[in-house]
Amino acid sequence: MLKARIAVLVSGGGTNLQALIDAQKSGSLHDGRIELVLASKKDAYALTRAGENGIEAKAVCRRDFESQEAYEQEMARLIDERQIDLIILAGFMSILSGAFTSRYQGRIINVHPSLIPSFCGKGYYGLKVHEAALAYGVKVTGATVHYVNEVTDGGRIILQKAVEVQEGDTPKTLQRRVMEEAEWQLLPKAAQMICAEIVKDRQMRRKI
Ligand code: GAR
Repeated sequence: MLKARIAVLVSGGGTNLQALIDAQKSGSLHDGRIELVLASKKDAYALTRAGENGIEAKAVCRRDFESQEAYEQEMARLIDERQIDLIILAGFMSILSGAFTSRYQGRIINVHPSLIPSFCGKGYYGLKVHEAALAYGVKVTGATVHYVNEVTDGGRIILQKAVEVQEGDTPKTLQRRVMEEAEWQLLPKAAQMICAEIVKDRQMRRKI
C-alpha cells in the first residue's frame, strides 16, 4: 500500500515520537510510515525509542558543523535521500533557518505545548511554556499542531486542543497533562490527515 514517508526531528525524551510510533502500530496512522528520526542531541532518549522500533535514527548536532547552512545541508541530504514527504518536529529544540523551512514549505509541521498565539515564539519551549502559563494565571491552556514557516510558531494552525489548568499545578504536572490530553492525540491525528492527503494526491496523479 502506498504510504507517505515521514521524518521525525527530535531533541529529548521523544514521548511525541512514541505517540506517532504507537499510532503507526495501532493503524490509526495508516497512510504514513516513519522512515527516519533525526536528533539534535546525541543523548536524546528519542534515539533509543526509534532504535527499539527498527526505525533508522541519527544524531545531527549543530555544534559539529561550521555553519547553520552546513548543518541544515546535512539534514536536507538525509531527508532528500530518503524521499521524505512530511517532516514532523516533535520536541525539536534546534532553530531552523528560513532557507530550510521554505525548502520544505507546506511539508513541515510542529507540535507546540500551548494554544497559539499564547505563550509561543522565541524563548517559549518545553517547560518554559508551562511556567509562563502558570505565572500568567490562565485557567485553560492546551496544545497546537501547526505548519512551520520562517516565523517561530507562526505557521498556519492545523489542530488545537484545550486543557484545563488545575489548582496546585506545577510546570511539570501541567506539562504532563497537556501531553496526555492534547499533544499525544493531536500530533498523530494531524500526521494521519496530512499523509492521507499526500497519498490521495499521488493516487490521483497516477490516474492522470
Ligand atoms: C513537548 O511538550 C513539545 O510540545 C515541546 O517539547 C516537548 C517535547 O517532549 N515542544 C516545544 O516546546 C517546541 N516549541 P517529547 O520529547 O517528550 O516529545
